[in-house]
Amino acid sequence: MAPLSLRTWLTGAPPNGRDVAGACAVVVDVLRATSTVAAALGHGAACVIPRADVDEAFAARAELEGGGEEPLLGGERGGFKVPGFDLGNSPLEYDAERVAGRPVVLCTSNGTAALERCRGGSRVYAAAFVNAGATAAAVARGAEPVVLCCAGKEGAPSLEDVCCAGLLAASLLKVYPYEADDATTMALLCWRNYEADVPRLLRTCNHGRYLAGLGFEKDLEFCSRVDVLPVAAAQRDGEKLVAVAQG
Ligand code: MLT
Repeated sequence: MAPLSLRTWLTGAPPNGRDVAGACAVVVDVLRATSTVAAALGHGAACVIPRADVDEAFAARAELEGGGEEPLLGGERGGFKVPGFDLGNSPLEYDAERVAGRPVVLCTSNGTAALERCRGGSRVYAAAFVNAGATAAAVARGAEPVVLCCAGKEGAPSLEDVCCAGLLAASLLKVYPYEADDATTMALLCWRNYEADVPRLLRTCNHGRYLAGLGFEKDLEFCSRVDVLPVAAAQRDGEKLVAVAQG
C-alpha cells in the first residue's frame, strides 16, 4: 500500500499557509462545537450548517425560513447563547424533540470557524469523542491524505482536541499505514496519557474548567463519552454537515 500522510493541525489552522486541498479534513472541537454537531445529527437534525460569523448565521437561518421544516439557529459567544439565537452550544439542548427533521445553523467562537476553514477538503468531517469511532470508520473508507484539524481556542491548542485527534489517529493507524507527522505523534501521546479517564481530561483542561465555571458541568460529562453516537458528520454540497450512519 502506498503511504498516505496523516497530519494534525494543533491550532486550527494550517502551518505555513497550506490548505486542505486534496485531503480529507476532520475538524475536532470537543468542547463543544463538534460534540454539538454530533448530538444534533445523532438526534435526527436534517443537517448542520456551520457559520463563523454571527450576522452570517442570522442570514443563513433567514434563508432557510419558509423552506419546509423550521430552521434552528444555535451557538455561543463566551460560552453563552447569543441573543436572538434559538439555542446555545450545549449538546444537551440538541435532543430529538427539538432537532429531529430540522436544519440547524451553528455559529461558535472557534469550532465553526475551523469547519469553514476546512471547507475545501476532498471530504470534511466534524468529530468529537462522542462520534470518534464512526468518524474514523468513514474516513478510512477513502484513500486520500488526512488532516486532523484541532480547533483549539483563539489560535492556541486545546488539550481535549489534541487528545481526540490522537484517538482518531490511533483508529486510523489500525486500518492503514499512514505516514504520521510529528504533530500526530504528539496527539497520540496525549491520547495515551488520558484514554483511561476522559472525564478527568475534560474536567482539568483549560476550556473544561472555564465551562464548569459557567455551570456547564453536564456538557463535560456528555462530551467525555466515547463512541456513544454512531454517526459521522460529513460535509455535503461544500457546506452543510449531514449524518452518515456507521456501518
Ligand atoms: C467554540 O467553538 O469555541 C466552542 O465550541 C466554545 C464552547 O461553546 O464551549
